[in-house]
Order: sequence, then C-alpha cells, then structure tokens
Amino acid sequence: MAKRNSKLAGPPLTDLAARAARNAYAPYSAFHVGAAVRTEAGGTYVGCNVENSAFPVGGCAERHAIAAAVAAEGHAMRLKSVAVVALDPIGVPVPCAPCGACRQAIIEFGPDADVTFGTEDAAGHDINVTVKAEALLPGAFSFKP
Ligand code: THU
Repeated sequence: MAKRNSKLAGPPLTDLAARAARNAYAPYSAFHVGAAVRTEAGGTYVGCNVENSAFPVGGCAERHAIAAAVAAEGHAMRLKSVAVVALDPIGVPVPCAPCGACRQAIIEFGPDADVTFGTEDAAGHDINVTVKAEALLPGAFSFKP
C-alpha cells in the first residue's frame, strides 16, 4: 500500500479559509474574511479578521494566519501557499483579494508562494485565481540598511 503523506492530508486550503471566515469578528464591516496558509515545513494555520470599535486596531485574516504560523514554527517559517476567502453576511463566498498590507506581509515570508483568492473575470463572474505572491505587489518594499 502506498505510504500516506501526512503533509498532503486534509481539506483544501480554501475550505480551511472559509471555515476560519465563519469565526471572523467583523461587526462593523460585516465582511467576514478567512485565510489559511501552508508552510514549507508542511504546517497549516488559519486566521480571520478581528475588528475593533477603534477601527485601526482591527486586523486582517491573512496577517493573523501568518502570525499563527510564525508563533508555531518560529522565525524561519516560510510560506508555500495562501488562500483567502470572504463570506457575505449570509455565508456565501464572495471575492476577496488580499489588501496591499497583506501582500507585503505574505511576500516577507514567501515571495514565491501561491496565493489563491476570489476575484472577477472580464465578464464580472466570480472566479478563484492563483498567482505568485511577488506578482501581487511588484516592487515590494524590502529593508536594506
Ligand atoms: N480584510 C481582511 O481581513 N483581509 C484583507 O486582505 C482585506 C480586508 C478585512 C479587514 C476588515 O475587517 C474587513 O475586511 C473590511 O475591510
């Protein structure tokens, strides 16, 4: 019997992101976002957006998932793939492209990571696309003292 590869087991990343989105705390925007990341080491971590009555204090799903990955694997954590899903107020998936700050955060840990998110095609239909993180933010900032 073929040996089971535990690193490939489990639901697709988009399903995990949608599950996380259901736990989002978004009473102000009513926009529930979930993110799931898979690391080069084979770990899987999720995050959701958590808003606050003082608006800038809230945070995005993607950066919360990345923080969970770093907390679990340490500073050497590297992203292999990322999925982002948003739900409308009745739980139907809607397109959600990662915001600019999250693109920068993803690139920090995985410029070559595959990022899957919902968007619209030319005809206005909802689709999922997968692109390399670096392509999402050309000329991303990098700290070179
Ligand atoms: N949001 C995310 O969680 N990720 C993004 O990439 C874009 C926006 C959240 C932040 C806020 O809670 C809500 O979506 C509306 O902007």
